[in-house]
Amino acid sequence: MSTAEQRLTRPRGVQLVAVGGDGVGPELMEPTVELLSEHFGLEFVEVQAGFDHFCRTGSSLADSAGSALASCNGVLFGATASPSGSVQGYVSPILWLRRELELFANIRPVKTYLPGRQAVDICIIRENIEGLYAREEMREEGRAVAHSVVTARRTARLARYAYQYALGEGRRRVTVVHKANVLKISDGLFREICLDTAREFPDLEVGEHLVDSAAYWLVRDPGRFDVILTMNLYGDILSDVAAGAADGLGFAPSLSIGPGIPLAEPVHGAAPDVTGKGLANPYGLLFSAGMLLKSLGMAHEAGILVQALIGAIANGVLTPDAGGDCTSAQVFEAVANDLRMRGIARKVAC
Ligand code: NAI
Ligand code: MG
Repeated sequence: MSTAEQRLTRPRGVQLVAVGGDGVGPELMEPTVELLSEHFGLEFVEVQAGFDHFCRTGSSLADSAGSALASCNGVLFGATASPSGSVQGYVSPILWLRRELELFANIRPVKTYLPGRQAVDICIIRENIEGLYAREEMREEGRAVAHSVVTARRTARLARYAYQYALGEGRRRVTVVHKANVLKISDGLFREICLDTAREFPDLEVGEHLVDSAAYWLVRDPGRFDVILTMNLYGDILSDVAAGAADGLGFAPSLSIGPGIPLAEPVHGAAPDVTGKGLANPYGLLFSAGMLLKSLGMAHEAGILVQALIGAIANGVLTPDAGGDCTSAQVFEAVANDLRMRGIARKVAC
């Protein structure tokens, strides 16, 4: 058996926490866990979370989460369905996890794989725990106020990470996206620190763009961008825009990085309109799993998984959101078959 095949089949003792969450999250997570366990020997501990879990138990994250997180190497997250409006006692589990694990950078690559779509190959690096998502909100008589929190230390850490990441991925152009022409103090501090920190990276071409026209150019001419470094809310919105300009939201992955364990999750949410039909697009979650493997030092395995995904997409194994007529189960089957074939091919070769 070749070393490569051993790596494909031998358990490596890597343990992950799997959080299905709400909507399409659990129905995509279950077969993903099965696939990753079978082909890459990963071990999973399942943790219940989400709005459904909150409605049933009064808590949005199972009590077992603390100990599971303390002893795992990373987290694979599905989606949650957070209500628009405050619900007494409910805390979004994904926002809680990002904050609790100090996941300060969220990496969102967007790349076109479908034939006939415009070419997109960009990476959005989103600040992940501050800005308007710091959730410092209050309602007073006749008015509501939300604070946008920007701290110098965290912004410098994010910018440094983003520039190093860009260099590591062979990318050369970074665009800092903000709205500092209006929000001169908060976005202004974000802009100032990102541009100052760029001086430490003379090999990069670092520029800036206002967020509204960045959204416009992402749709009209995404080739203008290579890496986008931006604030929490803008990164959330622009990554959906970029996914729309490429293959669609169902394909877009992400990885959150902090001082401790990483967390991977697709960009999309609970997708209630496709939930329960067996037609949700699994590629976003599977590409996210690839990013998680790579971040855990399993670049070889990540490469094999990504090649299997690209192969299935090229063969037209697509769910209806991408113009295909496959079920989610058929996508998982095609990817599993490809991984099996790769194992067999290696056996024959040695
Ligand atoms: P969404 O991302 O769930 O769906 C937007 C559109 O994309 C829908 O038409 C949906 O059917 C489609 N879509 C998304 N993922 C898909 C997939 N895998 N396969 C096929 N089609 C897919 O955003 P929406 O509808 O605004 O939010 C629904 C719920 O999800 C809300 O409660 C929201 O709070 C939550 N949400 C959670 C996120 C998370 O857990 N990180 C992120 C975004 C939204
Ligand atoms: Mg979003």
